[in-house]
Formats: sequence, C-alpha cells, structure tokens
Amino acid sequence: MLHFLSIADFSADELWQFLKLAKELKDELKATGNRPILKGKTLGMVFQKPSLRTRVSFEVGMLQLGGHALYISPNEIGLGQRESVADVARVLSGYVDGIMARVFSHDHVLELAKYSRVPVINGLSDYNHPCQALADVLTIWEHFGQLKGLKLAYVGDGNNVATSLIISAAKLGLDFAIATPPDYQLSPKVVSLAQQFAQETNIKISLTHNPLEAISDADVIYTDTWTSMGQEAETAKRLKVFPPYQINEQLLAQAKPQTVVMHCLPAHRGEEITNGVADGTQSLLFPQAENRLHAQKALLAKLLGKG
Ligand code: CP
Ligand code: NVA
Repeated sequence: MLHFLSIADFSADELWQFLKLAKELKDELKATGNRPILKGKTLGMVFQKPSLRTRVSFEVGMLQLGGHALYISPNEIGLGQRESVADVARVLSGYVDGIMARVFSHDHVLELAKYSRVPVINGLSDYNHPCQALADVLTIWEHFGQLKGLKLAYVGDGNNVATSLIISAAKLGLDFAIATPPDYQLSPKVVSLAQQFAQETNIKISLTHNPLEAISDADVIYTDTWTSMGQEAETAKRLKVFPPYQINEQLLAQAKPQTVVMHCLPAHRGEEITNGVADGTQSLLFPQAENRLHAQKALLAKLLGKG
C-alpha cells in the first residue's frame, strides 16, 4: 500500500507520474470536467492545526473525483491524547478509503501510516510539507516548461516547507540555495539527505546566511512564514531576527527580471513578503495555491483509485 509521507520516499519517475497526472486532471477539469474515478470513496481528513488550502483543496478534490471527504477537527479525536494514534488509525481504516493528516509531530503521521490499513497522506507536519512541494514543482514546471536546470532560492526559516523543497529540488534536478539566519538553518540531516539525492541529479546545493547570495541567478525565490504553527511562543524573538530575510522590491530588483516569487501561504504581508511583491507581476502565489488542488487530485487518484 502506498502512503505519501515525504517526497524523499519517491523516485524522480514516480514524482513525474504525479505531476503529469495532475496536469492531465487540471486540463481535463477545465475542458470537460473530471471522470468520477473515486466514486464511493471517502477521505478522512484529520486536522490538529488550522488550514485553508489543505482542507479546501482536499475536500474539493475528492468531490471533483466523485468521492467524499470528511473533516475531523482538532478537538474532535484528540490524536494521541483522547486515544492513541495507533487506535485512531485502526478505527478510521475501517470507515474510510484514505486518511489525510495535518499534525504537529511527524512521528504521528508515521504512526498513523504504520497502523492504517488505508493510504495515509501527510498534510503537513513539523518536519515537512510534501503536498505543498508537489504543487510547487507543478507550478514551476507549468511556468517554465521544465524543472531541470532551474535554480530555486529559498529565503527565510529552514522549516517544514524548506525541507520538502530541498528534497524535491534534489530529486527533480533544480539547483537549490537557501539563506537563513544562523540559528534557523535546515537540519543537517535534511541537507545530507538532499546531498545524497543530488549525487544522481548533479544539482548544486548552497547554504548561506546572505539572501542576496542565495537569489543570485535564481529562477524562483521562495519564502514562508517566519513563525510556523506551533512556534507561536517564539514570535517576538523571530520578529527581531528575520527582517533582513524579507522578500521585498529592493531584493527582487537584484534578481533576474524573469525570476518568479513563490510562497506556500498564509502570507504575513509586511513580514516575510511585502504587498508589492506578493501582488506584483512576478508573483506566482495564487496559481501555486490553486495547484494544491490539482497536485493532490493526482495523489488521491494514484493512492485511492486506479490512477
Ligand atoms: N499552504 C498551506 O498548507 O496552507 P493551509 O495551512 O491553509 O492549508
Ligand atoms: N511553515 C508553515 C507552513 C504553513 C502552510 C507552518 O508550518 O505553519
């Protein structure tokens, strides 16, 4: 049985299968509507944290494929508190055909997968955000018509989103540069995993504390919130450290004119990104958000159906 927990678990070929199916379903939806390939199937969506994109895109994606999605709110099942994660997985597997989970601890998503009898999809954990990265590479591919040979520069916190991006870049052949404050770097384990994959694709990975250095020659500049969900107690401290890492008009002016800007959203306008950049002509923020729907439909079709 196939789970979708980390980009690292998939080969470049498998990732391309998801991307091509996503594009096919997207084109088909706009032309004639989708076939009901998940008719009668149900996705259980377990949320320990808030969400706009993940919740709505999975729910609408299931509907468009002829199935049904069930929202299970943070205080409903008390994952790991009211009931053990293993028992939640065992029980839910008896009702639904797939589980999508947004959790704090990545161990919880691993444990759900271990005890589930149906596919589990990671809808964000403190470690990574693979659905986001899949939608992001779909967006980059659509925009540039290729992935190999491009350079993706991430500026900001070395967090869950950055983790899935560096692994995606290493697998799919994009050079990757990341500029973070010294105390907010990507975990060395993630970097060494990416370096391992990079041996096959021959991409360049660079780690710096200087945003200008990271964005030099970049095709894509990517940022995310400075304070992820679950880190709210650190907000004041982070607000002092991160301002030099803001994506603003001055920084963007130093990049190539055709460079695009991405952000997984929600954006904290005036913090990691300015209004001018988020709403500017180089912004891909909203096509990127829409692509969550199309990328995840490909995942759902492959994992729950016969995609
Ligand atoms: N980018 C993303 O995952 O958004 P939500 O937190 O709104 O789901
Ligand atoms: N890094 C952010 C991503 C939100 C989609 C967080 O974990 O809160």
